[in-house]
Amino acid sequence: MIGESVAVVIGAGGGIGAALFDALRASGGYRDVVAFSRASTPRFDITDEASVRDAAASLAPAVPLLVIDATGFLHDAAHRPEKSWRELDPAQMARAFALNAIGPALLMKHFQRWLGKFGQPDEWISCLTAAKVPWIRSEHDEANPPDA
Ligand SMILES: NC(=O)c1ccc[n+]([C@@H]2O[C@H](COP(=O)([O-])OP(=O)(O)OC[C@H]3O[C@@H](n4cnc5c(N)ncnc54)[C@H](OP(=O)(O)O)[C@@H]3O)[C@@H](O)[C@H]2O)c1
Repeated sequence: MIGESVAVVIGAGGGIGAALFDALRASGGYRDVVAFSRASTPRFDITDEASVRDAAASLAPAVPLLVIDATGFLHDAAHRPEKSWRELDPAQMARAFALNAIGPALLMKHFQRWLGKFGQPDEWISCLTAAKVPWIRSEHDEANPPDA
């Protein structure tokens, strides 16, 4: 049954997404491996529900048995992971929630239609990558604890 269906990698332009896309293609375990990203057609922006909905709809009549979400945001050139309450920035927090929390929930909203498609819920696999490190301990940190 897996040979008749497709795998989907979202965020296929990122480090983890690209590696998983290549590995799935090389495995030959799926009839096709579909890559979605902000550069794909259709464009997939996990913070834009219409684009999530359109990407899911574009798969028909294929049936995805594996959906990997490798999108995410931890830090960039402008924002580093917060190590103190003083470093909290509402705009960065809103972006992180939109991308890392609300986005994956919207993804499940529009991709769950295939859940249990073959009568066995565990035949449909979704994999969501995520990371949010609240505090990384180091010798410096031990000597300089964060604000309570
Ligand atoms: N690398 C690690 O060691 C590690 C460890 C644990 C967890 N993680 C988590 O795994 C995920 C992927 O990590 P990575 O190292 O592969 O990161 P990465 O190379 O920075 O890739 C992030 C991906 O997210 C995509 N993305 C960003 N904003 C998006 C949006 N609005 N809509 C759709 N896609 C968007 C990027 O697409 P564009 O190419 O269009 O920018 C890129 O493909 C992240 O959530 C990360 O926190 C990573």
